Amino acid sequence: MGVFYDMLQYPVMEKGKKIVIANWKMNPQTFSAAKRLFLGIKKKAVTLRNTDTVIAPPFVFLSSLSKLYSSRRMALSGQDVFWEKKGSFTGEVSTSQLKESGADYVIVGHSERRALGETNDMVHRKVKAVIKEGLTAIVCIGESEHDSHGAYLKFLREQLESALVKIKAGNLKNIIIAYEPLWAIGKTNDEAITPEKLHETILFIRRVLIEMYNKDIAFNTRIIYGGSVERGNAHALLIQGTAQGFLVGHASLDALEFGDILDIANQVIEH
Ligand code: PGA
Repeated sequence: MGVFYDMLQYPVMEKGKKIVIANWKMNPQTFSAAKRLFLGIKKKAVTLRNTDTVIAPPFVFLSSLSKLYSSRRMALSGQDVFWEKKGSFTGEVSTSQLKESGADYVIVGHSERRALGETNDMVHRKVKAVIKEGLTAIVCIGESEHDSHGAYLKFLREQLESALVKIKAGNLKNIIIAYEPLWAIGKTNDEAITPEKLHETILFIRRVLIEMYNKDIAFNTRIIYGGSVERGNAHALLIQGTAQGFLVGHASLDALEFGDILDIANQVIEH
C-alpha cells in the first residue's frame, strides 16, 4: 500500500520486553474462580524474562488479587476509570482508588465502553487522569470496518489524536496503544486480523505519532494488538505483525491457553 511506503525505511521496533494483558471483562463470576485463574497464570508469568504479564480483572477482585503476587513480572490493571478525583459520581472509580487497590495500569477507551456511550473526549479525560496519577494508560483504538479505501485510517487517526491531544511527549512512556479492530474482537484466530494488515496499521499509527510528536516517540511508544489473539496466531502477529504485545480477551480466561500465548511472546527474539 503506497500510503505506508515511506514508513518502511524506519526500523521495525522490537526492542524491549513484550507486554501481554489479560482483559477478563466481566469474568469470572466468583472470587475463588478468579483466584484459581490468577494463580494458574502466575505459575507461568513469573518464569518469563522477556514478557510482562498484566491482569485486568473486574474492579471488585483487584485488591484481593494484589496480595497474591510479589513478582515484578506481573501487574494488575483496571478495565476502566473515571476522570474526577472524588465526589458524587455514583458507580465510578477514581485513579487513586485503583492505585490503592494494586493497579499499575488502566485500560481506557475499550470498544465495549465506547459502545456504551464513551466518547473520544471522555477517553481523553481518562487518559489525562491516569497519567496524572502515575499509572500507565492502555489506550484502545480500533475501527469497526477495515474498508479497502482506507476510511478506517481516518477513523483511527481521529481516535488517536483526540486521546492524546495536549499529552506531552514525556508522558508517552506511560501510554500503551492497543490497536483493537472491533470486527476482530471475540472471534477465533482464523477470523482475526492478518499479520500483514496488522503491520500496515501499526506503521500508520507510528506515522500519526511522528506527526504529533517525533520519530523517537513514534518508535518508542509501545503498540500492542487485541482481537481474537489465541495460541494459534500469536507468533505471526508478533513477528510479521510487529505487535509488541497483546490485549487478550477470551483466551485469557483459560490459564493454559493464556500461558501458551505468554510463552510465545517470551520466545520472540529481539533484534
Ligand atoms: P478477544 O477480546 O480476545 O476475546 O477478541 C479482546 C478485547 O476485547 O480486549
